[in-house]
Amino acid sequence: MSRERADILDAKKVLAEVWPGQVQEDSVALLKALHILTRDGTLNHDARRKLKQVLHLVQLLRPSLDSVLDGQPDAVIADLGTGKSYLGFILYDLVIGPLGHGSIFGVDVRAELVERSQKLAAESHFTRMKFAVGEIADTMLPNGRADMVTALHACDTATDDAIRFALHHEAKVIALVPCCQAEVATLLGASSGPLEQLWRHNIHRREFGAHVTNVIRSLVLELHGYKVRVTEFTGLEHSLKNELILATRHQKSNPLARRKLDQLVEQLGVRPALLDVVGG
Ligand SMILES: C[S@@+](CC[C@H](N)C(=O)[O-])C[C@H]1O[C@@H](n2cnc3c(N)ncnc32)[C@H](O)[C@@H]1O
Repeated sequence: MSRERADILDAKKVLAEVWPGQVQEDSVALLKALHILTRDGTLNHDARRKLKQVLHLVQLLRPSLDSVLDGQPDAVIADLGTGKSYLGFILYDLVIGPLGHGSIFGVDVRAELVERSQKLAAESHFTRMKFAVGEIADTMLPNGRADMVTALHACDTATDDAIRFALHHEAKVIALVPCCQAEVATLLGASSGPLEQLWRHNIHRREFGAHVTNVIRSLVLELHGYKVRVTEFTGLEHSLKNELILATRHQKSNPLARRKLDQLVEQLGVRPALLDVVGG
């Protein structure tokens, strides 16, 4: 047996532990190119954690992906703050590629990461995987099309930009796993009132601020007609940034969510910039 073939079989064994039955032989080369597997087919601790996270996310998103891709053969999935594009490549390898239709568009502000991903997509013959360099907030995809938007750990307010992007593109599904967030914690620091005890201490302000940020994001999506589910994304041992906000458009708007949002910001005395998408 050739050395290369033996390496692939070793790598498949390593991967089978993480995701039994799912990894194709061709995926091994891709995972090596992504530096998830080392050149000799092993999986280090950080790479194992990242791979588990991404595979778990793909599994959680599978029903939404299927409904978007079933209804529309030319559906576009936009992955925002794509970074090294682990999610995009694994999504293509496991779902979009085998399905034979649909495309993925990665957006990131870092040109060197985008160039690297473009090169890898070409080498992997992932012809329906494209990229753009740019700020999420300023990017419009060709024909204004993004049927589903994903943003995995897009830094701080980049998750809010992902929401604005999804609304501009009238995405049917939006999947957000927010990252660190500072804006609301800063605003709470300047806010006083009956609830002030909830954020008097720095650590509470940071944690409560992150919680309020995601509550506001969810209400913003609801008032735009999305049905929102917020769940734990993966075990805390894999990531501290552990919340998945999954929104599916099911109506034009939701005035009740609008009233709840207005009440909440009034009670807390904070108006984060994302409220620019709710008008008046
Ligand atoms: C923490 S990384 C996450 C990367 C990837 N989604 C993942 O989970 O592996 C965040 C990425 O978002 C990009 N980013 C942050 N703010 C952005 C913005 N406003 N517009 C475009 N990209 C942004 C960064 O360059 C970085 O690559």
